[in-house]
Amino acid sequence: MRQNIIAGNWKMNLDFNQATELVKEILDKQKESDVLTIIAPPYTHLKSIKDMLGQTDIRLAAQNCHHQESGAYTGEISVKMLKSVGVDYVILGHSERREFFNEDSLAISYKVSKVLENGLIPIYCCGETLEERNEAQHFHIIEKQIKQGLFQLNELELNDCLIAYEPVWAIGTGETASPDQAQEMHAFIRKTIANEYNEIIANNISILYGGSVKPSNAVELFNCPDIDGGLIGGASLQVDQFIELTQSF
Ligand code: 13P
Repeated sequence: MRQNIIAGNWKMNLDFNQATELVKEILDKQKESDVLTIIAPPYTHLKSIKDMLGQTDIRLAAQNCHHQESGAYTGEISVKMLKSVGVDYVILGHSERREFFNEDSLAISYKVSKVLENGLIPIYCCGETLEERNEAQHFHIIEKQIKQGLFQLNELELNDCLIAYEPVWAIGTGETASPDQAQEMHAFIRKTIANEYNEIIANNISILYGGSVKPSNAVELFNCPDIDGGLIGGASLQVDQFIELTQSF
């Protein structure tokens, strides 16, 4: 079911002590809210942070996983490993994975399926580059990423996924998509899903916006009818900003 969500993607930031300090501050300062709050620390911190979160409502995400169950894949992490330390969500197909690690939507689709098979929830990321937007290819690119990454799923499986639209040109640049640009793309993603599945699934799925979201632009973005929350990079590392974002609906 669709819900308001703030998910903090810490990326490759914060050593163990800094990370546990940030969690302590979040727990101290968090306020009553109906917003589902998720944090995605680096792998090495997951278990300890899970222990710190205990019975709170804050959920834990990983930033990636491997698509195989187990085996000779040196340096990789399986979904079962993530599950065994209490991870609930896995961010998949982030543009930084696509750009720096050559992940394509087909490879990501295997991970999506593996995450669901293990009862965790994928946060499937899509987004176009500035060049693609300038060439008016953005709808085509997003449609392709959504189809290739998610349309192997049946209705029930898709219903369990979250989607994050993160235009690459807005990530870490300080430049945000305007509420109109973001809303237009979120509505397009829903239409793409409705055409392949049905309106109910399309309306039930939570779609987050990501790309330089901060307290000063969040309210306008989250007020858009098809934007259900944010996948937050930089601002998720600043406790006051992160807490304020959870209050921006
Ligand atoms: P910024 O909020 O730092 O632009 O990062 C967005 C992002 O990539 C979240 O996954």
